[in-house]
Amino acid sequence: MSSPRDRVTREFVRRVGAPPTLLARAPGRVNLIGDHTDYNDGFVLPMAIDRAVWIALRPRDEARVEVHSLDFGEDAAFDVHDISRGGRGWAEYLRGVAWALGSQFDGQRGTTLCGWEGVLAGDVPLGAGLSSSAALELATARAFAGACDLPWEPVTMARLAQRAENDWVGVKSGIMDQFISAAGVAGHALLIDCRSLATRAVALPDDVGVVVLDTATRRGLVDSEYNERRARSESAARQLGVKALRDVDERMFAERAATLDDVTRRRARHVVTENARVLAAADALAADDARRVGELMNESHRSLRDDFEVSRPELDAMVEIARAQVGCFGARMTGAGFGGCAVALVTRASTERFAADVARRYEAEVGLTPAVYLCEAAEGASLEII
Ligand code: GLA
Repeated sequence: MSSPRDRVTREFVRRVGAPPTLLARAPGRVNLIGDHTDYNDGFVLPMAIDRAVWIALRPRDEARVEVHSLDFGEDAAFDVHDISRGGRGWAEYLRGVAWALGSQFDGQRGTTLCGWEGVLAGDVPLGAGLSSSAALELATARAFAGACDLPWEPVTMARLAQRAENDWVGVKSGIMDQFISAAGVAGHALLIDCRSLATRAVALPDDVGVVVLDTATRRGLVDSEYNERRARSESAARQLGVKALRDVDERMFAERAATLDDVTRRRARHVVTENARVLAAADALAADDARRVGELMNESHRSLRDDFEVSRPELDAMVEIARAQVGCFGARMTGAGFGGCAVALVTRASTERFAADVARRYEAEVGLTPAVYLCEAAEGASLEII
């Protein structure tokens, strides 16, 4: 199948009768380690992947957006100065981003939101935990910035996209997905301090491959379970007398944890230990010590499964199967959990064979057909002027 870049360009020409003037792109992501830490002001180590959402567009005089989604075979349209909620679905991410951008830029320093017409498509699997929604949000932000001459500043745009997700779509997610989609660095994972938003790009060793393993399971309740984990984490921080769980290290936790009920204590323990693992993993990766990174990933999975309780049997099975293969340094569930993908770190020489063997064994043991993606670390959101 042709690339989403080609597909959106071709469809734009077919519909509009002229080539697009801009091509906006924003990638999905896989998180190597550090889950459910971002909304606790903690640390994460994701990378943007070589799968993205693309929008072919051209600005228009009217302040109205008209867009066609090739993936859904649907149209959406809205007035950028009078946006109302249109129900659920892909177009809400565009409306939410327009709303967040409008509240930031409209009338400021001579900037104002304009309209555009476009066609969008992507190859980030939907709902798999690879941040197809953050990719859509950032591609939309990139499209608006290109069409309306807004300043492109990745951190500001990541924050605005998070605002769209939190306050328009209604999922109380942290900053990780939007941040890495905006600011990813090719060939690198990005250590992000989710409090200060300081980053450190860590090169992925040439001889190491990142393999994403989709369990082919999805869980409908993920939003409410997610919001519950977030609320519980905030309550743990309050009870421990800190602003966020980020402020608790392992020693302080050992001293104060007895005051927490069992569930809250285990949730907090995950966050506290995961933050330490992320920092250790970034150092190990920078030192080319993939074996150590793999061990930390394995521990992270255990903690997400037993303490934070966001795994599920198919994810556990996938991780076990991955670890049993030759050349695998470590594996863990990745993202919010409750279904979706695991990520494995593998010697580059064995990635193809690893992918085939894991898929075959998972299907035989679990009875579901997984998807397997060999991923390269990609650049964050970009814009081509044609
Ligand atoms: C989802 C959220 C992120 C993060 C992860 C879990 O992907 O969007 O902000 O909390 O879950 O690490």
